[in-house]
Amino acid sequence: MLNKPAILGGKPTLDKPLPPYNSIGREEIGAINRLLKSGKDLSGFLGRGGEKFLGGPYVKKLENDFEKKFGVNYAVSFNSATTALQAAVAALGIGPGDQVITSPFTMPATATAILFNNAVPVFADIDPKTYCLSAESIAKKITKKTKAILIVNIFGGTPDYVPILKLAKKHNLKIIEDSAQAPGANYRGKFAGTIGDIGVYSFNVHKVIQVGEGGMMVTNNKRYAYRAQLMRNHGEAVMDDVWEKEPKTRELIAGNNFRLTELQAAVMAEQFKKLDKLNNQRIMLADYLTKKLKKFSWLEPASVLPNSKHVYYLYPIKFFSGKLGISRKTFAKAMEAEGFKLAEGYQKPIYLMPIYQKKRIYERSQFPFVSKEFSQNISYKKGDCPVAERMFEKEFLTTTLCQPPKNKAHIDLFIKALQKIGDSAGLLKKYEK
Ligand SMILES: Cc1ncc(COP(=O)(O)O)c(C=O)c1O
Repeated sequence: MLNKPAILGGKPTLDKPLPPYNSIGREEIGAINRLLKSGKDLSGFLGRGGEKFLGGPYVKKLENDFEKKFGVNYAVSFNSATTALQAAVAALGIGPGDQVITSPFTMPATATAILFNNAVPVFADIDPKTYCLSAESIAKKITKKTKAILIVNIFGGTPDYVPILKLAKKHNLKIIEDSAQAPGANYRGKFAGTIGDIGVYSFNVHKVIQVGEGGMMVTNNKRYAYRAQLMRNHGEAVMDDVWEKEPKTRELIAGNNFRLTELQAAVMAEQFKKLDKLNNQRIMLADYLTKKLKKFSWLEPASVLPNSKHVYYLYPIKFFSGKLGISRKTFAKAMEAEGFKLAEGYQKPIYLMPIYQKKRIYERSQFPFVSKEFSQNISYKKGDCPVAERMFEKEFLTTTLCQPPKNKAHIDLFIKALQKIGDSAGLLKKYEK
């Protein structure tokens, strides 16, 4: 007798929900308590020149920790990766009339970082193995107006950077790495986020190390770091103080309040110490899952580039509906009934979202999409990036199964559930109708 899937009335594979991920422990609680008891300034920033322009001691220490660990000259903290990305684009001097090539298969903040600088995002397709931009797809989108490539190290992995770096050099393009999901990942011996001109990490609640909200930008370029600091903390207000002493540092930047608090920095300093351990736990589980998934011809496990380290913010899986004979939707529903929730599709390709379809972010103007500075007609139509669209619509799934305290026993049960669904595909096909 067939082991009946739970969706058809059988017993679910899991008898209780999977335990949630939590990276916060005694160390973070201790750090917060110490800071609060000390009575010290919880921001540490002041929006004018002088000592407090760069924040308080916890913020400075955290930045220093990032500089040391990732081997970069400058780390600049932010209140999110979204704001760090905006500052990164501004740091490069990108603005109206410029194009930046980026991925459509990402969290939408990657692309709005370009729009907030009044430049225009141009979307290139992803590689179906890494889910990141490919050099071939980028090459097709380069024009005279292209100033930079905003690469996304998605799910904790990177693209194949060698041909991308070559292409960038040939066309004199800067590279920003949106490494929000990939702190600690590595491409051929270099940390993700330190391969291009500027890298950005996120500390939001979903990430491997987190403090609810927060972000960090890293670079080896002194001027980019300085411009980012001006963006972070009311740059326009500090200029009078700074220019008098150092006329060479003259930059015209309208700043923001993108500052990380001392409270967040105190927690993050503890989280950062745990990065390698937390990443390694995920890698161990992911390697185990990859090995076990290989027996299912209708699934494709995550792949890792040679001599590189994926850190599995999420574990990506491809599902081939044609090989199993049921839709991704039915498959995901059947797995959910077994106790394993899979996320379908990840992200609608960004250019299909309404602001791009309408080319409008201001009520009375189509700037920057349609403007004096920018006459070229950028395409945001269905079919532009077929791989990203296929992933979204048909093939792509993610699981959080490789996040501790989930363990190998949970993965074994996941495999058992997959086997059950695979063996019952015929029944599920009937259920679909
Ligand atoms: C790829 C990517 N870029 C940018 C962001 C924005 O990060 P934050 O929430 O820290 O602003 C995220 C957040 O999930 C992300 O996953």
